[in-house]
Amino acid sequence: MQESSARNYIAMEFPNRPENVGVARIAVAALAAQLDFTLEEVDEIKVATSEAVSNAILHGYRGRTGVVKVRAEVDAERLEVVVQDEGQGIADVELARQPSYSTDPERMGLGFVFMESFMDELEIDSAPGRGTRIRMVKVPQRKKKAAEA
Ligand SMILES: Nc1ncnc2c1ncn2[C@@H]1O[C@H](COP(=O)(O)OP(=O)(O)OP(=O)(O)O)[C@@H](O)[C@H]1O
Ligand SMILES: [Mg+2]
Repeated sequence: MQESSARNYIAMEFPNRPENVGVARIAVAALAAQLDFTLEEVDEIKVATSEAVSNAILHGYRGRTGVVKVRAEVDAERLEVVVQDEGQGIADVELARQPSYSTDPERMGLGFVFMESFMDELEIDSAPGRGTRIRMVKVPQRKKKAAEA
């Protein structure tokens, strides 16, 4: 595949309705499938995307209405997914990343754990009152093996 033709992206924006989690998951998975990911890796991408988008929808706006933006890009080497809200932000990002930490007693507090373990890179950029931006990168296993050989 030529480098120039391999580059592709999608950008979407939607209101923070829970049913849009599935829309984002399917769109990102369809884009990811253009790269050399295994089915298992595509499933991991779906989970990580769903977790980031549901966090934006549920925690970002806490019952208020707001806009969630998702951008995903593939090139010959990797998938990048960016999920953004303009909601309340996270006061302590290190604490929020801890397994089982949640500000909602009904939840498991595992979203960031899944994002971290299923993706190769996870960046959390957040500030109270400004919102949250999650950036995740994943490289196909088959690419990593080829690079090592
Ligand atoms: N986009 C966001 N805006 C504001 N707060 C967030 C956002 N994403 C995460 N958080 C905060 O970080 C905490 C941890 O998030 P994480 O996804 O790991 O767990 P959870 O959403 O609480 O539970 P689970 O994902 O297992 O349902 C949340 O409880 C919430 O307080
Ligand atoms: Mg979560």
